[in-house]
Amino acid sequence: MSHHYIRFSDVHYSYPHGPEVLCGVDLLITHGEHVALLGLNGSGKSTLLLQINGLLLPSRGEVTVGDIPVTKKTLRLVRQSVGLVFQNSDDMLFMPTIGEDVAFGPRNMGLPDAEVERRVGAALESVGLAGFEDRPAFSLSGGQRRAAAIASVLSMEPDILVLDEPSANLDARARRQLIDILAGFSHTVLLATHDTGMALELCPRALVMDAGRIVADAPTAFLAASTDSVAAGIFDTARTAPIPVPAAN
Ligand SMILES: Nc1ncnc2c1ncn2[C@@H]1O[C@H](COP(=O)(O)OP(=O)(O)OP(=O)(O)O)[C@@H](O)[C@H]1O
Ligand SMILES: [Mg+2]
Repeated sequence: MSHHYIRFSDVHYSYPHGPEVLCGVDLLITHGEHVALLGLNGSGKSTLLLQINGLLLPSRGEVTVGDIPVTKKTLRLVRQSVGLVFQNSDDMLFMPTIGEDVAFGPRNMGLPDAEVERRVGAALESVGLAGFEDRPAFSLSGGQRRAAAIASVLSMEPDILVLDEPSANLDARARRQLIDILAGFSHTVLLATHDTGMALELCPRALVMDAGRIVADAPTAFLAASTDSVAAGIFDTARTAPIPVPAAN
């Protein structure tokens, strides 16, 4: 697989017994792009991301990763190139220690012990958790658990990194560290976020979702300056005046 692009062709999806929440999504992301997926709560961002590694499969249409159509039969192959960090990333830590969580993927790929160990060390180091190998997940802070979840995906050395709200609940320092990790990732990054500052800094391109459709695909800076009502709701352009501070008495 030399071209790790992501392609959606007329993808529709409904949760069981529910209305359609992806209503004909078409998109193409080429290898090495950093793309933000923006949109209001409930617009379908997480649902879209879960299609990329086949956790959800389209009701109609097709998702392809590289040259591989995402189907039940190709899940194993697809997941070797796509690393997905969930919106609720705590769900990804289920082993007794962080080290074992981060080793889980590489071990599952059948890599030799020395290589697994090398990858665990490198992944933990890159998210600022060097030395945390033996700590159980519950003993980490929320931000540290997010970092550990990201490490558990980086240790697979994915060609495509998909992250759902990665900066939620992070303090400024942890958020900065996350941005630096992602900026240094030379392969494809697709991230769903409400953190428009992060999107502007990391992603030259943004997709905007509204009610299950991609309604804009444009340079992020262009959207930030747009007066379009959907973009304005995302970038909160109404609040451009400084927040007033009561005078001291
Ligand atoms: N497991 C589920 N079962 C049924 N409906 C769901 C499920 N998950 C999401 N939905 C519905 O699908 C729609 C899209 O939800 P989704 O989680 O993809 O939105 P989102 O853009 O990620 O929102 P947020 O910004 O709040 O994370 C919503 O209407 C939601 O209620
Ligand atoms: Mg979501």
